[in-house]
Amino acid sequence: MQRSSYKLPLIALVFLSICVLIYSTWSSNTKVLSSQGNQHNQNTQSSYYHLLLPASEASAGLCKTIFSAAVLGYPTPRLLNWQRKFEDEHLIFGGSHIAKIEGVLGFLRQLEPQHDDELVSIVDGYDVWFQLRPEVVISRYNEINKRANYRIRSRLGMKDAEENNVKQTVVFSAQKKCWPASPDDAACFAVPQSELAADIYGPQTDHDIDDEKNPFAKMRQRYLNSGTVIGPVGDVRAIFERAAEKALVSTNFGSDQGIFAEIFGEQEYQRELIRAQNLSRLQRIFLALKRVTVGLSELDDVTSPHPTHHGMNPATPGGRNYEFHIGLDYGGELSQPTVFSENDLAWLKHKDINDIRDKSTMAGMEGKVRVKGLPGDVAASTPPFWASDVASAANLPTSQTWEDMAVYTNLWTGTTPVAIHHNAHHDGLKARIQTFWNETWYFPHLRELLHASARDIRAPVAVLENSGVQHEWWDPTDERGGARVEIGSLPGDWIGWQDMCGTTEITDEVFRDGKGAWNDPIVFLSWDHGVAEEQVARWRESHKSSMNT
Ligand SMILES: *[C@@H]1O[C@H](CO)[C@@H](O)[C@H](O)[C@H]1NC(C)=O
Ligand SMILES: *[C@@H]1O[C@H](CO)[C@@H](O)[C@H](O)[C@H]1NC(C)=O
Repeated sequence: MQRSSYKLPLIALVFLSICVLIYSTWSSNTKVLSSQGNQHNQNTQSSYYHLLLPASEASAGLCKTIFSAAVLGYPTPRLLNWQRKFEDEHLIFGGSHIAKIEGVLGFLRQLEPQHDDELVSIVDGYDVWFQLRPEVVISRYNEINKRANYRIRSRLGMKDAEENNVKQTVVFSAQKKCWPASPDDAACFAVPQSELAADIYGPQTDHDIDDEKNPFAKMRQRYLNSGTVIGPVGDVRAIFERAAEKALVSTNFGSDQGIFAEIFGEQEYQRELIRAQNLSRLQRIFLALKRVTVGLSELDDVTSPHPTHHGMNPATPGGRNYEFHIGLDYGGELSQPTVFSENDLAWLKHKDINDIRDKSTMAGMEGKVRVKGLPGDVAASTPPFWASDVASAANLPTSQTWEDMAVYTNLWTGTTPVAIHHNAHHDGLKARIQTFWNETWYFPHLRELLHASARDIRAPVAVLENSGVQHEWWDPTDERGGARVEIGSLPGDWIGWQDMCGTTEITDEVFRDGKGAWNDPIVFLSWDHGVAEEQVARWRESHKSSMNT
């Protein structure tokens, strides 16, 4: 009796423990499985990430942009305005800048409203090189908006910001000179100060340093540059609709940048108007005092009467909305235009601490070193030479890390931009598009990396974790090893790298290895029947000799 009286609870306890054990392993297994399976799990969200390149013709420049995106696992790009001619002599640049606006809009209009939350990057086709992974773009884009929305709420107040739907979702790149607008335009005077520290270039920051070649060298990046933009499809479409409307009114505008800068300037003017109209009595007294004590130029009050500024018509309630959720990438974290920043950046490896110190000294930083180790977001991203198949990996130095890679880095801000926009031009600096190409980390292995990219499995372009939610970004295009060509309807035509970049003129410049023209590897069959038949024929042709033996 005595024995079984404690035996029974013991058996019950063991049974219970086994149940708990089974239950806990079962539940943790299902959690893993369901998030991998991505079947409408509420902890996983999937969306598309579009990459748009306005480019009308093939060139070594375009192929460098496209190849840099391919080796880093960006979505297959969509070419806008492909093979369009810009010969309207009444328009500046033959109308190519208006065409950029029309081309982007033509595609975005085809995406129905359910696509509005998808992400889209628009990148100038001929002079932008990627050097870091897409997951770095998306996480930095999120952080930039988070910081900006905090600034918006502290400037306007939570209530005003919310009531007027003032927020930031779209990020353009930033540059040091307000161009092409004049200082009296809202695009120049009404935009916020840069997010960069007021002494980022030392005591001369924001001063004209009497440098004939670049008087803007010490200015902080504060003004809109339209070379790259990223944001949700719906918000970007609204900006391009507005731009197209503006382009119609002034047919001979200098560039698309002028139009986007104007939209940004008007937005900022209106934000300040909302603020000015809602100041508390105490704030008004402070402002009045400030007006008497500081000079007009130091007054951070852009809406009061000014002798030369071209103000805007005050936004009337129920009138036009100037809020487009636009903000800038002040630190060049996403994309660094090199114009006016010609000497701010250097090629460096994050592991070479001595080299970084030397280059900082040479740049005139007087002992300061701002490049401090590999950024955490880069370290956490997929390693540079990772490949999804063994055959590709065998041809690549897969053990190398991001610390070993030469990346073009801003010595003053300490930032390694995800993309470099090579628009520097004074004294023949456009030539850097040739002379710098062999400095990129992927250049020595470009052919192997492109083969790996063409054979890559279909997987998310980027996976990010944000407060317990896993967000996956997918390439909207199935095919690899080429580009989609916009034709006014989805999915558009297909063009392989070989047809785009396969001429000896282009491959000689892009690969510089004497191995002849580029041939597309045939890995996956196209879903397009005609293309697939061609692929099979070409594969047979190239394997003829080995099949006969
Ligand atoms: C602030 O002013 C704008 C008009 O410029 C108005 O629409 C808005 O309701 C005001 N907000 C508050 C909180 O008073
Ligand atoms: C790139 O090529 C130039 C000559 O055009 C050479 O001076 C330079 O050292 C090369 N850089 C690398 C990293 O190979």
